[in-house]
Amino acid sequence: MPEADSVRILMQEQWSAVDSYVAGLLASHDSALNAALEASEAAGLPAIQVSPPQGKLLHLLARSIEARAILEFGTLGAYSTIWLGRALASDGRLVTLEANPAYAEVARENVSRAGLADVVDLRVGAALDLLPALHAEGVGAFDFTFIDADKENSPAYFAWALEHSRPGSLIVADNVVREGTLADAGSDDPKVQAQRQLHEMVAAEDRVRATTIQTVGGKGYDGFTIALVDP
Ligand code: SAH
Ligand code: DHB
Ligand code: MG
Repeated sequence: MPEADSVRILMQEQWSAVDSYVAGLLASHDSALNAALEASEAAGLPAIQVSPPQGKLLHLLARSIEARAILEFGTLGAYSTIWLGRALASDGRLVTLEANPAYAEVARENVSRAGLADVVDLRVGAALDLLPALHAEGVGAFDFTFIDADKENSPAYFAWALEHSRPGSLIVADNVVREGTLADAGSDDPKVQAQRQLHEMVAAEDRVRATTIQTVGGKGYDGFTIALVDP
């Protein structure tokens, strides 16, 4: 095995060990979160949900602004949905959009088991197709948006979220650093180019203050963009 690969495996082991340590003390699972991951695995969903410490971060961010309306792009098995749903004020609501009907079915059960069926509004379809109805219904403004669906559309989701936010809202996008390829202007990966476009949009947007934080952990090397609307 090339040396760089062995080094990478050792680093990944350490990142995962630290994630497990932190999760054990600060982001521990109750039975509903465990059941959500077990049901997702049993149904063959890809294990690409946020890590426990990342789920806790989303929860803390939403709680710190006392979010009452949350929008999520990309539900998968509702693991992040549960972390975010638990941050809502008692009269809060969370809309989550998922393109894959089989994933959505698993998510619905996981949300019910977590006792969040009354606050989570799970909609099935490609997010860009679902947004006009959300707009027409006047759902929102959203206090917190989590962008975590198809990465090519993250800039479009950001633009929509911004138009459906209020001063003080947070918009968080996952998977923006992509093992460092974010810095590669010449990348021919459309997912990377989309994250670069997102950064250029955010930089040019007077209505937000933002940063990107690189992360390592159980899910490897990636990062979040965090934008505060019109503070
Ligand atoms: N937020 C989840 C992980 C989401 S993974 C968590 O952390 O627990 C990305 C999800 O986006 C997948 O379930 C995928 O089916 C969904 N997705 C892909 N394209 C989409 C689209 N156009 N609209 C809505 N969801 C989409
Ligand atoms: C992957 C990771 C994610 O966090 C996500 O939202 C989608 C895909 C991945 O590792 O493939
Ligand atoms: Mg993600």
